[in-house]
Amino acid sequence: MSNNESAPIATIASLSHHEGQTVTLRGWLYNLRASGKLLFPIFRDGTGTIQGIVPKAAVPEEVFETLKNLTLESSVIVTGKVRADSRAPSGYELDVENVEVIQRVPDETPFPITLKEHGVDFLMEHRHLWLRTPRQSAILRVRATIMRAAAEYFDTNGFIRTDPPILTPNACEGTSELFEMDYFDNDKAYLTQSGQLYIEATALALGKVYSFGPTFRAEKSKTRRHLTEFWMIEPEVAYAGLDDIMDLAEAFITHIVTRVLESHRADLKVIGRDVTKLEPIVAPAPSLSTAAAPLLSSRSEAEGSAAGTTKEPRFPRLSYDEAHAMLEKAYAEGKLENPHKYGDDFGSPDETYISSQFDRPVMVHRYPAAIKAFYMQPDPADPTKALCVDVLAPEGYGEIIGGSQRVDSYDLLKSRIEEHNLPLAAFQWYLDLRKYGSVPHAGFGMGIERVVAWLCGLDHVRETIPFARTLNRIYP
Ligand code: 4AD
Ligand code: MG
Repeated sequence: MSNNESAPIATIASLSHHEGQTVTLRGWLYNLRASGKLLFPIFRDGTGTIQGIVPKAAVPEEVFETLKNLTLESSVIVTGKVRADSRAPSGYELDVENVEVIQRVPDETPFPITLKEHGVDFLMEHRHLWLRTPRQSAILRVRATIMRAAAEYFDTNGFIRTDPPILTPNACEGTSELFEMDYFDNDKAYLTQSGQLYIEATALALGKVYSFGPTFRAEKSKTRRHLTEFWMIEPEVAYAGLDDIMDLAEAFITHIVTRVLESHRADLKVIGRDVTKLEPIVAPAPSLSTAAAPLLSSRSEAEGSAAGTTKEPRFPRLSYDEAHAMLEKAYAEGKLENPHKYGDDFGSPDETYISSQFDRPVMVHRYPAAIKAFYMQPDPADPTKALCVDVLAPEGYGEIIGGSQRVDSYDLLKSRIEEHNLPLAAFQWYLDLRKYGSVPHAGFGMGIERVVAWLCGLDHVRETIPFARTLNRIYP
């Protein structure tokens, strides 16, 4: 669009640099109030919203009439003078001088999403338009920062990004949740559930690697935490054990929360997030709840971690057994409705209870091997347990990270594959990794959408990704 020397193109987010100047904004009409000879249009441009002031006497007749009858979400190029106003949410208002309508939304087909309350089904059906509302836009900006910060952490700590395939010949996380498709000449292919198996290969080539991409689960569950398509970032480290990746997870999460708090306080406010709940996560000194302190495991001697991260754990670490004991006690005290059965995975109320005991993410390690994946290394101290960790977000947001040390013995891995009734032929390449220079190695996966839900305080993952894919929705 034409640039006017005296009215440079600006964005709403950058108006603090243009106080007192006449600028050009390119965006959409978000809302409009009229009060006699005064119009209050609110414009949005993707970076924020700003209220305009249009006194009839101050603008040409046609500008006033155009705006007065303008339909919501019509696209407009507006020129006006930026004025500081302490009462305005953004701190600025715009004294509108001119407006050029790029496309006027027809009167007969008004923008379907209004300021009144809509049901979630209606909003999801109109997701392509719902994204324009300030809250949804703010969530997507936070998501982008979470993704950038996650990649940045690994990029600046010696990890090489290696991209695993999306189309795979075998399962990674259990065969019941696979999307299957025909792959030429009678072969089947599956959409990847996790890049892990492949980045174990690249880790043995490059040392410290990560992958970042979409992953798929044919989840039949309709929970508020499950998508059928979600983004996962996964580091994998050669010569690393469980303690190393717990240290890594802690430093990684801290970095992400730091970046979000650094640049998104305004967005979090629009979203309605109580940021005081996030501040302890980046606080320098741990303030682990004293009630839980006696339950905390002492750390192993694994100093000088291969992952090269923090010295003192800042996030609480509990073994599965310790977490179970905590739940038993809570049940006995009437704080939990149902008892937790030893040996079972934790249910959502269990996870919520455990996480509510701490003001930062809690790491639960050494689950019973029987309920975990085939590739997890048994704990030498108790082979019925796996050297694995789940990181539970605070405030009941549930598991955000799952990781483990991997089986490094050829024979053990082979028998695991057989026990799990997995097709040996499809895993031959994976077994090769244990034949040629096998080493202890470990890694984890973090689901981006779970982290967006937690950091933004959203009760459902459907708002954490532009177009959520769930059991009962694949439109738009
Ligand atoms: O715990 P999961 O299944 O672990 C793995 O896939 C490992 N192979 C990762 C690894 O060790 N490299 O999944 C990891 C994370 C979960 O903690 C959760 O954050 C997310 O991925 N996740 C989902 N997010 C949204 N919808 C789903 N259906 C998800 N399933 C897992
Ligand atoms: Mg898991």
